[in-house]
Amino acid sequence: MIEIIAISGSLRAGSTNSALVAALAANAPAGCRVEVYDGLGRLPIFNPDDEGERTPPEAAALIETITRANGVIVSCPEYAHGVPGGMKNALDWLVSRDAAVGKPAMLVHASPRSLYARAALAEIMRTMSFAIYEERALEIALLGKKPAEVEAILADPANRRAMRAAIEAFVGFIGGR
Ligand SMILES: Cc1cc2nc3c(=O)[nH]c(=O)nc-3n(C[C@H](O)[C@H](O)[C@H](O)COP(=O)(O)O)c2cc1C
Repeated sequence: MIEIIAISGSLRAGSTNSALVAALAANAPAGCRVEVYDGLGRLPIFNPDDEGERTPPEAAALIETITRANGVIVSCPEYAHGVPGGMKNALDWLVSRDAAVGKPAMLVHASPRSLYARAALAEIMRTMSFAIYEERALEIALLGKKPAEVEAILADPANRRAMRAAIEAFVGFIGGR
């Protein structure tokens, strides 16, 4: 069983990125489980003084989760042309560990905009030695949609097929490494 961790970079209750990662989890193909990591908002602000034996339990749990996973999917909004602090903070906890090194990762997108954040996130994750799967980018335009519309778009058969196909392609990338 291929285990994939999906992370939304938004803490908003009505987040479109969180809706997308939840839909990916619900549409995972056979032989693959997509589990949503929901601890972003509970992570303390990263401080290099708090590494090693002083690592906070929430950060240790994140590191363990990423270490265990076969791959990571991230769906993240853009704030002021950048990566939201919560998402960057989570990544910062992984920088000086082995968890991210060579770990397959795929970015998916809930907004057709956010081009600065996409590029920044890819650059950050590449610098951390994630193995980014770049051949295919799943984008489902949920920006500005109301919750009922988001639900309907994500339940659309064509979008469900696109989600499944994206995960299958990512699983192929993981398997080929
Ligand atoms: C503080 C803030 C700053 C934002 N800055 C940008 C931006 O620079 N570029 C952009 O495309 N969208 C920007 N947005 C819009 C969000 O990226 C967009 O609403 C996104 O869909 C929110 O994701 P969510 O639904 O998962 O919370 C901003 C939103 C907020 C709250």
